[in-house]
Amino acid sequence: MGRGIAQVLAAAGHEVLLVDHSIDALVSARRHLEKIMTRLIEKGRLSETDANVLLGRITYTETTEGLSEAALVIEAIVENLEVKQKVLGDLERVVSSSCILSTNTSSLSVSAIASALQEPERIIGLHFFNPAPLMKLVEVVPAIQTSEEVVNQSVTLMRDCGKTPVITKDTPGFIVNRVARPFYGEALRILEEGLADVATIDWAMTELGGFRMGPFTLMDYIGNDVNYTVTETVFKSFFYDPRYRPSFTQQRLSQAGYLGRKTGRGYYDYREGASQPEPVRDRERGQKILDRIVAMLINEAADAAYLNIATPLDLDLAMTLGVNYPKGLLKWADELGHDSVVSQLDFLYDLYREDRYRCSVRLRQGVPFFTT
Ligand SMILES: NC(=O)c1ccc[n+]([C@@H]2O[C@H](COP(=O)([O-])OP(=O)(O)OC[C@H]3O[C@@H](n4cnc5c(N)ncnc54)[C@H](O)[C@@H]3O)[C@@H](O)[C@H]2O)c1
Repeated sequence: MGRGIAQVLAAAGHEVLLVDHSIDALVSARRHLEKIMTRLIEKGRLSETDANVLLGRITYTETTEGLSEAALVIEAIVENLEVKQKVLGDLERVVSSSCILSTNTSSLSVSAIASALQEPERIIGLHFFNPAPLMKLVEVVPAIQTSEEVVNQSVTLMRDCGKTPVITKDTPGFIVNRVARPFYGEALRILEEGLADVATIDWAMTELGGFRMGPFTLMDYIGNDVNYTVTETVFKSFFYDPRYRPSFTQQRLSQAGYLGRKTGRGYYDYREGASQPEPVRDRERGQKILDRIVAMLINEAADAAYLNIATPLDLDLAMTLGVNYPKGLLKWADELGHDSVVSQLDFLYDLYREDRYRCSVRLRQGVPFFTT
């Protein structure tokens, strides 16, 4: 992620110091960025001069000393609380007193990371999406300790870099990794119950729902190991709320090394010559699958709005820009009518008697999220 974030900042005109303790990682980052620039020149998106200027703004180094003049540090190292605390704690002694320290963590508590600092009010989460130069969304995550000024400066800076910042509370999964859970979880549940196979569920979500990728294609793309770990982390972080319970199917695939595209097998078989399963193109059945998964996604977004994790506008921006959903989930709820989503969730709740299907109070209130 670090090299992508470096490209974003350099493209916005900032001098960037790319620090990594591994020389190999630095060499690989430089090669990668040079290759990207060549591609952009070939496609006519960037002149050779501009590409060279951009590359010239990035300095590669193994030490942090040069950061003493930095206005902002974006930490994007290994996802481990103790390591992040140690590295940011050490950095605090290097940087100036006005420097903002940020973390690109996907799953750790920013407040916990901040607790290791002498001046925790200067830390903030800046969660970029992969690939950083292409994905517009940045989740801005103030810790409990973060000062208002640091929040405002960070939002302005991200906007100046051409990003769309959304402010989110420091809770597990922030916005996207929390609200998107049912896209995978409910699809897996439908599969496990034998209601439909992977190809049919993917077909329903793409063909009828307008999602760019079906849940199984997407999980294979992300990697079942990565997707499973995120789900497990979110589940544990929410004190084992059944809404986020991981699936045995995905755990077993992950354990078996069926990680998806990267290992040649996942829910689908990517090996050469392998045949692909055909969906059952039954629109009535497909609509039921779509309605169920969308109702669960809307419920998650509505609850996040109810609990003030983010504003309805930011929640919808996050899901359309961060994971390319065809429309914002709360706008979708307004279009469908809250009553109809509540009926769908209550039907599932009555059927299963599981807390997983509890409907958000915010939907029961029946007040639209948007006025237009
Ligand atoms: N990969 C993604 O899609 C993605 C998306 C959003 C956020 N993130 C977050 O970004 C961070 C980095 O993820 P990644 O996928 O780029 O990981 P990565 O393993 O590809 O890169 C981490 C880099 O940090 C370097 N590093 C580790 N410890 C260091 C230290 N103490 N000092 C200096 N350099 C050190 C490593 O050499 C490596 O080059 C994580 O916190 C992750 O959760 C990742």
